[in-house]
Amino acid sequence: MRILVIHGPNLNMLGKRNKKHYGACSLDDINGMLSQTAKKNLVSLLVFQSNHEGELINFLQKNAQKASGILINPGALTHYSYSLRDALEDTNLPTVEVHLSDISKREPFREIDVLDGIVIEKIVGLKEKSYIVGLENLINYIRRKRSL
Ligand code: DQA
Repeated sequence: MRILVIHGPNLNMLGKRNKKHYGACSLDDINGMLSQTAKKNLVSLLVFQSNHEGELINFLQKNAQKASGILINPGALTHYSYSLRDALEDTNLPTVEVHLSDISKREPFREIDVLDGIVIEKIVGLKEKSYIVGLENLINYIRRKRSL
């Protein structure tokens, strides 16, 4: 099983961003924890971060055929990127959306989530643990579907 892990704009700066919202881990720390979780579950990850919407879309178009699911933190694109939403929907892959902070309890513009309706699950507010819970839930979902 191969999972695409996608980090959107500004997530390369984790560790230096507002710790109250995002915690203290760097993106490398988070990717390290994700790869341990993947190893434990015998799955492989293809990890990608970009600050550019089009690059995220190119990555999805190029790699979705070889993957079983997507774990994504779209950063601020969550709140307005219809083209990223379309690209995710076009993959037809089960997608789990994660956020370090609880986007429903911050500024009003963060309450808008254009991925609503196309993801199988959204995990928010657990800081770096959102990613781990999200990956585990995605793997379990794919395994359950395969065994039906
Ligand atoms: C975020 C929440 C977004 O609103 C914000 O723009 C981010 C990070 C989170 O993980 O909490 O960059 O996706």
